[in-house]
Amino acid sequence: MALEIKAPRGTNDVLPADSYKWQMIEDAARRVAQRFGYREIRFPTFESTELFERGVGDTTDVVQKEMYTFKDKGDRSVTLRPEGTASAVRVCLEHGLFGGLMPLKAYYLISAFRYEKPQAGRFREFHQFGAELYGSSSPQADREVIELAASFLRELGLDRIALNINSIGCPECRKNYHQALKEYFSARAEELCETCRGRLERNPMRILDCKSPICKEIAAGAPLILDYLCDDCKEHFEILKKSLTDGGIEFHIDPHIVRGLDYYTRTVFEFTDPDSGLALAGGGRYDGLVSELDSKMQVCGLGFAAGLERLVGVMQERGLFPEPAREGAYIATMGQNAVPVANKLASELRKLGIRAETDLMNRSVKAQMKYADKTNSRFAVVIGDSEVESGTVTVKDMAGGEPFEAALSEAAKAMAERI
Ligand code: HAM
Repeated sequence: MALEIKAPRGTNDVLPADSYKWQMIEDAARRVAQRFGYREIRFPTFESTELFERGVGDTTDVVQKEMYTFKDKGDRSVTLRPEGTASAVRVCLEHGLFGGLMPLKAYYLISAFRYEKPQAGRFREFHQFGAELYGSSSPQADREVIELAASFLRELGLDRIALNINSIGCPECRKNYHQALKEYFSARAEELCETCRGRLERNPMRILDCKSPICKEIAAGAPLILDYLCDDCKEHFEILKKSLTDGGIEFHIDPHIVRGLDYYTRTVFEFTDPDSGLALAGGGRYDGLVSELDSKMQVCGLGFAAGLERLVGVMQERGLFPEPAREGAYIATMGQNAVPVANKLASELRKLGIRAETDLMNRSVKAQMKYADKTNSRFAVVIGDSEVESGTVTVKDMAGGEPFEAALSEAAKAMAERI
């Protein structure tokens, strides 16, 4: 009977023929993070539910509607991480990293889980490259994080990506803004979705990020946070804009960006693909998150995360994945005497770090050569009785180069020198 179990809705499988695309992106992420002085952190796939309720915010869509939360067998409420920022802060608090050298810079490559309606570029399990910087209140730190994200996208060959920035101020300037929003939305409270009616008193800014079409339409005419910034927040934003301009990083100001997570203060930003309208990366400053999770600690933070599925999609559309180049060698065998000789040559090649394969299917030489071609082998060698006897082989260069002869004992080295 055929297997009827399918991958869960909103998840993806990466097949052997495509995994190099993911590796390209992950390698670029590690390279670029390293260049800016960020080191990797790793943390669990699931955490106490409370971490996200307090960190991400209990009036956000993520916490109210999208978390994979369940009781484990010990009756504890745990949640599959919907993002990495809250976990990264938890790691730093738990291990006392905020008492060490500052600024503290860390990056991560993680899976994340959100129970969203699957559609183009939106999945229930997705992957992120994220970077976080702690301990600096300077707008230069904001510039650095944005520059890191921009460099990563450039490293992938992605130009024509729009950078939109905004400032959503600090708790001080938000008091007046919240008041203005309450007044604005109260007038049309009946039309708001049920969740947003609940948000009106507790956190009216969240209504600006609701995905329901009617709330979106009402939110389009709402007062803008930029008109309510205090002097310090205004100055921070001005310095950031100048620093981006000085650094040749193009941006647009989009006063409608509020982001979907509660912890942001001041700078917020998104990198968007203009063709699909999808956000490829997003982030911002979160100066209150650390103290939200540990009231004794006051540490500024900021960062961003990029969605890897979306990057793969856009890079595919733009033809940015090179065809895999020919590499490695295939050692074909004709007859049983050749088998140990071919195995020996293959293991010598592998010791030199070169992919080498031999026949495991008892195929004809013709079929073996077809396999060598389809697996993109750079070299092919056929070993039969006469090669075993003479101790020399002919190496075929499948990339179109001249074939060459080599002593069996020298063949691995001769191929390695040409790769
Ligand atoms: P976020 O904007 O929620 O921010 O997610 C960052 C990126 O992850 C998005 O721009 C998008 O590319 C990708 N993404 C989000 N949800 C999905 C989904 N359902 N399917 C596919 N891709 C998705 C954060 O997660 C923050 N933690 C970023 C951050 C780090 N802020 C400060 N530090």
